[in-house]
Amino acid sequence: MIQLGVNIDHVATIRQARKTFEPDPVTAASLAVLGGADVITVHLREDRRHIQDRDVRLLRETIFTKLNLEMSTAQEIIDIAMKTKPEQVTLVPEKRQEITTEGGLDVISQKKTIMDAIKRFKDAGIMVSLFVDPEENQIAASKDAGAQYIELHTGNYANAKDMATRNKMIEKLQAGVKAAQKLGLRVNAGHGLTYQNVGLLVESLDVKELHIGHSIVSRAVFVGIKQAVSEMKELIFKHNLARKFTV
Ligand code: PXP
Repeated sequence: MIQLGVNIDHVATIRQARKTFEPDPVTAASLAVLGGADVITVHLREDRRHIQDRDVRLLRETIFTKLNLEMSTAQEIIDIAMKTKPEQVTLVPEKRQEITTEGGLDVISQKKTIMDAIKRFKDAGIMVSLFVDPEENQIAASKDAGAQYIELHTGNYANAKDMATRNKMIEKLQAGVKAAQKLGLRVNAGHGLTYQNVGLLVESLDVKELHIGHSIVSRAVFVGIKQAVSEMKELIFKHNLARKFTV
């Protein structure tokens, strides 16, 4: 069964709009776990636009599911991750002006930096996932750099405006999964996934975890986060039954 990673960054986005104490992403994480989240994900950005250092610290103390820390390779953030010891870190590119992560990591051009970071994490027993586009050369570079996981960027699938493009993106992601599995990498996927587009992805891709944030937090505004997570879990379960392959 595909595991659900819930990204709670945007609970912190609402809090930071007023720089106050509510809503607390730490409370959201506990409720997300009650709703069935298998993984809790937060992105501690260098500009601290949503998640704060205190959130990461408290999440580590209160969340006993897998904690996945999304981050850049900035030294300051690596040091925080080493202290926090999440089960997994996902390295992502980070640009100051972007609204959200815009594309996968260029592992090829930053191999040395990424390799050094991976080595530190692995020595500390922290699993490393690299967020990459479904491109064979980036996937191969991820393996070379020492990552255990990749997270395939599903943004182009999510943004597809018609069925033909959507199917093409699915084929691209499927090829990416195959290439990664051949190299012995474990594969996650995420970005831009919603209650509307998650089904086809679950039916088509052999992945371990789906990482979903904005859509779940948006629904949570109306139905609460526990229910929003459990509705997403149910969708994944239903479409899992219709999968075209077995794992
Ligand atoms: N995976 C990664 C690596 C991300 O950077 C993000 C966004 O923070 C997500 C998944 C979740 O994307 P979304 O909020 O669009 O569901």
